[in-house]
Amino acid sequence: MDKFRIVGERPLNGQVSISGAKNSALPCMAAALLTSETVTLHNVPYVRDIITLRRLLEDLGATVLTPELHTHKIRAHHIELFEAPYDLVKTMRASVLALGPLLARFGQAKVSLPGGCAIGTRPIDLHLEGFRLLGASVELEAGDVVASAPARGRLQGADVHLGNVTVTGTENLMMAATLAEGRTKIHNAACEPEVKDLADLLNKMGARVHGAGTPTIEIEGVETLGAAEHSVIPDRIETGTFLIAAAITQGELKVKDCRPEHSTALISKLREIGVQVEEADRSTLLVHSKDGNHSLSACDVVTEPYPQFPTDMQAQYMALMTQARGRSAITETIFENRFMHAAELRRLGARIDVNGRTATIEGPTPLKGARLQASDLRASASLVLAGLAARGETVIDRVYHIDRGYEKIEAKLRAVGADITRDRE
Ligand code: UD1
Repeated sequence: MDKFRIVGERPLNGQVSISGAKNSALPCMAAALLTSETVTLHNVPYVRDIITLRRLLEDLGATVLTPELHTHKIRAHHIELFEAPYDLVKTMRASVLALGPLLARFGQAKVSLPGGCAIGTRPIDLHLEGFRLLGASVELEAGDVVASAPARGRLQGADVHLGNVTVTGTENLMMAATLAEGRTKIHNAACEPEVKDLADLLNKMGARVHGAGTPTIEIEGVETLGAAEHSVIPDRIETGTFLIAAAITQGELKVKDCRPEHSTALISKLREIGVQVEEADRSTLLVHSKDGNHSLSACDVVTEPYPQFPTDMQAQYMALMTQARGRSAITETIFENRFMHAAELRRLGARIDVNGRTATIEGPTPLKGARLQASDLRASASLVLAGLAARGETVIDRVYHIDRGYEKIEAKLRAVGADITRDRE
């Protein structure tokens, strides 16, 4: 398993370009299953989860061409298999995004039920309840979800009230509803920019989706969808991770090819604690924290659905709070077990107490390099950030977690002055 070796205490300086959003590219790739024509996606990040989904699409019978590293041409003309097997779903929960498109276009789908994962139980009951409301029969058989459309063929439009804000649940149902007969209304839909991006692609394919990006999405079903070309939005979590990388190393970065309006909760929090973040133009942020981290002040956050502070930035923010003056509380309301990074950060010298869903951090504490273990995608990012701030050498094991969602993170960090290398095994 690969490791990162980081020698910390070097301020980052220079510019970094943000890749496409993994969480947008995944549903967009799954949406290609809704048509027999070619869907061309640009700005797809080169990360492990994308390779996993590509493998799934190919297993199903789709052809995926990559004329360029970040362009995928997906043609789901001859689909022979309608199932996502356990070995794929267990490595990537987002495989469940195949369910909606397969069910809508072919009237049948079988997807292994994702089990627990490192950050909690993460059920998909709301996806399944939504499919049932659209007229599908959904059974659980030997750990698999087996779904089929009503006898007369198409799914039927319906009013779906989601009991909880679910991002992939909203996406799955939105995709399924594009080919349903009649009108579907999704209430309490997720408002994340990735949902809106998927809706933009679906509309280019000929779907009639309105209101994506708001809590109520209306979909007028159509009979078929066709070819489309779409560029995936920039990754707001990678953007946020680099903003914090500059802040935690007392550096200065120009973060290019991002969408500042997708990171407003994080940017205002960073400004509140004393990090200077400026919007140079519509796709560039300038961040600096040169006055010394000890001038950063501790500030609480509560993770909530978009547009509030994202759970996917919580671990990175915790690393930063170890360097801010005072006590901060981070409350995680989305996932029940998302503080595994706290124990690893403590190994570097951080003072963090976890009590249920709230972690309390006392800062600033000098961090000192140690051997660490990455436990999930965003937790690994927080360990890298802490390693950049720590004195001496930090070795992070199991970085395959970070490779799931960050494109060439070590190369990007090295280019702006970090001392980080990958030991391959
Ligand atoms: C997506 C993101 C992930 C992010 C998360 C929350 C992708 C591929 N992943 O994950 O990076 O951390 O949103 O912003 O886009 N829930 C249920 N029943 C369901 C579905 C969800 O109870 O059927 C609960 C979950 O357990 C969790 C909450 O709803 O507590 C939000 O989960 P959800 O938005 O579905 O997360 P994902 O879509 O899996």
